[in-house]
Amino acid sequence: MIPFVDLKSQYLSIKPEVDAAIMGILETCQFTLGSEVAAFEKEFAAYSGSTIGVAVNTGTSALHLSLLAAGVQRGDEVITVPFTFVATVSAIDYVGARAVFVDIDPQTYTMDVAQLEAAITDKTKAIVPVSLYGQPADMDPIMEIARRRGLVVIEDACQAHGAEYKGRRSGSIADMTCFSFYPGKNLGAYGEGGMVVTGNAEYARTLRMLRDWGAEKKYHHVLKGYNYRMEGIQGAVLRVKLRYLEGWTDARRTAAAHYDRLFAGSSVVTPKAMSYARHVYHIYAIRTQNRQAWQEALLAQGIQTGIHYPTPVHLLPAFADLGYHAGQFPHAEKAANEVLSLPMFPELTAAQCEEVARAVLNLAGETPRAASAASVS
Ligand SMILES: Cc1ncc(COP(=O)(O)O)c(C=O)c1O
Repeated sequence: MIPFVDLKSQYLSIKPEVDAAIMGILETCQFTLGSEVAAFEKEFAAYSGSTIGVAVNTGTSALHLSLLAAGVQRGDEVITVPFTFVATVSAIDYVGARAVFVDIDPQTYTMDVAQLEAAITDKTKAIVPVSLYGQPADMDPIMEIARRRGLVVIEDACQAHGAEYKGRRSGSIADMTCFSFYPGKNLGAYGEGGMVVTGNAEYARTLRMLRDWGAEKKYHHVLKGYNYRMEGIQGAVLRVKLRYLEGWTDARRTAAAHYDRLFAGSSVVTPKAMSYARHVYHIYAIRTQNRQAWQEALLAQGIQTGIHYPTPVHLLPAFADLGYHAGQFPHAEKAANEVLSLPMFPELTAAQCEEVARAVLNLAGETPRAASAASVS
C-alpha cells in the first residue's frame, strides 16, 4: 500500500519532541494563545521572510480576517481564481463581498495575470492569488497592478509554506499572506491552525483584535470580532515541526524531481515548476483524460491518489448565486476534469515513486522501462 500522505510515520520520526511539547502545554495550561503560540508566530513569520505573524485557528480564518483587516465590506468585489479549495471563496463570502474570478494559467494552475486587469471594477478592493499545489502565483505583475490600482493583495499560501517567488518567500511579497496548518499541509498541526503573515503593523493590530473578539484589552471590544485564537498545543507542536520543515521540503522536491525523471519523455503531463519559483510540492498533480479509470486502477494496485479539485468553485452548487456558468473559465474547468494527485509526502521513498510511476506509465500504455532507466536508487 502506498498512501497519499503518511502522517503517522512523520509523527513517529519526531515523537519524543512532539510529546514533550504537548506535555509542556499541559504543565503550563496555556491552552489558547500563550507563549508557545507567540514564539511560533515570530519564528514562522521569520521563516516566511517577514516580520509579523498572527496565529489563528484555521487557514480559512486567516483569509477571513485578512479581508476584514483590508477593509473589504459588503458589496465590494474581490478577485480570485475558481480553481482552488472552496475556503478561498467562502472567506470572500463571509465578509459579504462578491468573488470575481479570473481563469488560471493551464501550466501553473495559478492566476492568469494577463486576464487580471480586465476583471477590475470600481468595486474591486482586493486580489487573492492562490499559490496552488505549493507554487507561488506570478506575484510581480499582480503586485504591480494592485499598487497602480490601489488594491490590497492577500496571498492564499495555504498550500505554499516556504515557497519562493524570485528568491522571495511566500509571506514577504503580498500585503498579507495566509497559511493553513491543517494536518496534511506541508507544515501541519495536530489539529487545526492558520496564520496571517504581514509586514504591516496596522494590519497586524487589527488582526490580533479580530481573532480575539475584537478586544483591544480584556472586555474592551472595539471591533466586532471572532473566537479565532490558535490553541497552545498547536503552537507548541508547530514550533517543533517548523525546525524540520526545510528538510521535509527538500525531500518533497527530491521526490518530485524523481517523478519528473521517471515520466520524462512519456505522454504523462507532469507539473510545471516555473523558473521564478521554488515549488514546495504540497501536491504533485499529473493530468489525464482517463482520470477515473486511472484512479480506480491505481487504488486496485494499492496506490492512493487524490483530486484537487474535482469542481471549480464557480460550478459548485454552493456558489450558484454568483451567477457563473460552465464554459466561462475553460482552463479551470479542464484542469478540474483532468488533474490527479499522486502520493507526495516527505517520507515517500525513491522505490515508492518508481512503483507509482510504473503503474501510471502502464496505464498510459507506455513502457515501464522508462521508469527503471530513470531510477536513481
Ligand atoms: C488553497 C487553500 N485555501 C484555504 C484553505 C483553508 O485552510 P483551513 O483548512 O486551515 O481552513 C486551504 C486548506 O484547506 C487551501 O488549500
